[in-house]
Amino acid sequence: MQKWIMSGIFFFACTLALVLLFTLPGKEEVAEDAKPTMPEVTMDAAAAEATLKASCISCHGDQLQGGAGPALNQVGGHMDVDGIFSVITKGRSGGMPAFKDQLSPEEIANVAMFLAEKK
Ligand code: HEC
Repeated sequence: MQKWIMSGIFFFACTLALVLLFTLPGKEEVAEDAKPTMPEVTMDAAAAEATLKASCISCHGDQLQGGAGPALNQVGGHMDVDGIFSVITKGRSGGMPAFKDQLSPEEIANVAMFLAEKK
């Protein structure tokens, strides 16, 4: 009788372990930050324009026509939304500052989606 209970517990523990194995995110997924993953947001053009005005036009021009930084008014033509999200988050060596400490990932995602539509 006791044996039966023991194997019952053992079986239960194994099932639990298997379920956890498949439902918990893998270590690699958690540690991955080489390429930041973009949160899903619904695009809000007014908010994107406000963020651009506050943080970006000083270098990219008030019409995004370019200045100290390259023009962004057609950036969607050669960069996808993930690429734009990554550049804004991490910056680029040629003078583009990283915005991960100034803007939330959601704000950056919103601006990235707004810019990706400019082709
Ligand atoms: C201090 C000046 C400065 C500010 C502020 C700035 N940028 Fe930039 N940005 C640059 C420069 C310079 C580059 C070019 C960097 C390079 O290619 O190495 C650049 C590049 C980029 C690119 C890549 C463009 C391409 O065609 O490759 C994007 C997208 C971009 N910036 C978006 C933004 C956004 C969005 C903001 C505001 C949140 C912003 N930038 C604020 C200077 C700036």
